Amino acid sequence: MTQQPSLLVIGRTGQLARALMQAGGDHVTALGRPEVDLTNTDSIKAALAQYRPALVINAAAYTAVDAAERDEAAAQALNTTGPANLAALCAKRDVPLIHISTDYVFDGARDQSYREEDVPSPLGVYGRTKRAGEEAVCQHNPRHIIVRTAWVHSPIGKNFVKTMLHLARDRDDIRVVDDQYGNPTYAPHLAAALLQMATHILGDEDFTGWGIYHLAGTGRTNWADFAKEVFATSAALGGPHASVTPIPSAEYPTPAPRPANSCLQCDKAYKAFGITMANWREGAKTCVQALLAQA
Ligand SMILES: NC(=O)c1ccc[n+]([C@@H]2O[C@H](COP(=O)([O-])OP(=O)(O)OC[C@H]3O[C@@H](n4cnc5c(N)ncnc54)[C@H](OP(=O)(O)O)[C@@H]3O)[C@@H](O)[C@H]2O)c1
Repeated sequence: MTQQPSLLVIGRTGQLARALMQAGGDHVTALGRPEVDLTNTDSIKAALAQYRPALVINAAAYTAVDAAERDEAAAQALNTTGPANLAALCAKRDVPLIHISTDYVFDGARDQSYREEDVPSPLGVYGRTKRAGEEAVCQHNPRHIIVRTAWVHSPIGKNFVKTMLHLARDRDDIRVVDDQYGNPTYAPHLAAALLQMATHILGDEDFTGWGIYHLAGTGRTNWADFAKEVFATSAALGGPHASVTPIPSAEYPTPAPRPANSCLQCDKAYKAFGITMANWREGAKTCVQALLAQA
């Protein structure tokens, strides 16, 4: 980054937080529990006073989509109330906030990819609490960027790529749904884009492009084809692989309903920040390579 401003990331152990730390080096301080708990306003206040960041990125969230269905209060505390308090505290210090949100704010009924201005209509508790978080951030800090992303994976944390490779150790064939479409996003690709955004904002005193942006891997796929890509890459590298049997969502019921189409159109981020996200296949390949190298 040209001016080396200090960025404070909330969330330290998560996929995105770790990728931001790796990409941002010394310019990024990532704080999580116990020092900073997004549900504890005093801990946020203390961190802002101590680190005096030029910009804050909120990468902490309640991300367990199915568990949220039976634990709405916890999901709301982390996805709605916490971001509201963080946004208000940042606003008091005139600090811009980049808040991360999700493709699951949409119901999937649109037959094309979603634009930022499309009306959200979340299907489950996770999506509802994240949408309420977007509204709260918008209400409490005029200097906000809300970035909706999707299907995040990385070499650390829990994600689909890791689950598939793990399952393939014991199974020859895996049944995976093929009627939900989205944009797999490699966390390091998203982190690089967010840092580009932050640099742009901090380098432009007259920046006026506050609002919602979509950032996700380009191209679209479904979970079954995503799994096939993971196994093709893994097989070529001598790693675990399995055949994939595509099934409809009806044969794999989950506590939280998923949108059939949550693809995100990312043109707005290109126009405002010059950001082009990598294709999802490239992200999936890189993730598998990194995971096999760790094994
Ligand atoms: N994962 C996806 O597929 C996906 C898809 C679309 C959008 N997103 C959004 O992308 C963002 C990053 O997701 P991710 O995949 O990196 O999530 P993740 O790996 O699940 O990490 C979540 C982070 O939140 C932290 N956290 C939990 N409770 C906290 C609290 N009370 N105070 C402070 N930190 C707390 C966790 O830290 P602890 O170790 O302390 O628990 C962890 O670092 C989130 O906003 C998520 O909604 C994710």
